[in-house]
Amino acid sequence: MHADIEIEVDGEVRSTTVDTRTTLLDALRDRLGVTAPKKGCDHGQCGACTVLLHGRRVLSCLTLAVAHDGAVVTTAAGVAVGDALHPVQEAFVDHDGFQCGFCTPGQICSAIAMLEEAAAGHPSHVTDDLVAPVTLDDDEIRERMSGNLCRCGAYVNILAAVRSAAGT
Ligand code: FES
Ligand code: FES
Repeated sequence: MHADIEIEVDGEVRSTTVDTRTTLLDALRDRLGVTAPKKGCDHGQCGACTVLLHGRRVLSCLTLAVAHDGAVVTTAAGVAVGDALHPVQEAFVDHDGFQCGFCTPGQICSAIAMLEEAAAGHPSHVTDDLVAPVTLDDDEIRERMSGNLCRCGAYVNILAAVRSAAGT
């Protein structure tokens, strides 16, 4: 079975026809040519495919494209404003938060959404005080970014970048 879908991707409305079993990741990459989100595991384990769906981070390999007809998707390629990088992107550059870069688009999207989640007071598994404002210390950042793996092991610099973007 096939379905016509329309998705706004990085500010541009895109239309395509997908098999209803197609993941959002495959629709983006294979049908629409949007290659910022990467396919690492295709099983929800690595975070390389992370995109922002209506501003919230999702693993695009774990959700079906047909479920998101009319959605607004932002990838790491769409967070800059003109030539001005997003502050999280700047922080990754400043702190050398990558090596091969394969995980980076997912790390960027995840970090952007994570900072907003923390600012909104969402607790994580390591949050002690569930009512106080969230302080993004290293443990909080590690926990909140734990869904994004880096096969190059650039975690020290990723942590520094996110800490910098968080202002901590
Ligand atoms: Fe989606 Fe790994 S490709 S989590
Ligand atoms: Fe290579 Fe993270 S920079 S996988």
